[in-house]
Amino acid sequence: MKKILFVCLGNICRSPTAEGIFLNKLKQKGLSKQIEVDSAGILDTHRGELPDRRSREFARARGHKLESRSRPVEIEDFERFDLLVAMDFRNRSDLEALCPRPEYLKKIVMMGQYATPPFDEVPDPYFGGSEGFENVLDLLENATEGLMIELQK
Ligand code: 4NP
Repeated sequence: MKKILFVCLGNICRSPTAEGIFLNKLKQKGLSKQIEVDSAGILDTHRGELPDRRSREFARARGHKLESRSRPVEIEDFERFDLLVAMDFRNRSDLEALCPRPEYLKKIVMMGQYATPPFDEVPDPYFGGSEGFENVLDLLENATEGLMIELQK
């Protein structure tokens, strides 16, 4: 079983959205038993919270249910997961700083590298308006599709 952890700053907007979209795709393709998915944040400020209301509403409008609870990245995640998928460069450098063993550094990847065409970052929508949340959904629908194809190779 492959294990994927999506990571952003607060684990209430981008990474739970990636998780919800990816879970939906796994279900549609009958792959839910083959791939385990979770999400986590660099911060623990929102621990235990559901995703941001705006993220949930915009995702629901596209048929994705976001039900995860925020939690911070833990050291054991580097051992447990095969890939830690960062949403932006700051998430990546924070993950690199937390990484307990050099051989786990290669598990840290960027979400945008799986998109067609690839993009650099999933911008943080938290302090902005609705277009930021729609943009996150557009980027993540694209990139999670590429990740799914990559994992089936
Ligand atoms: P996320 O967005 O990293 O996509 O979950 C954020 C949510 C909360 C905060 C920052 C980013 N915050 O500073 O509380």
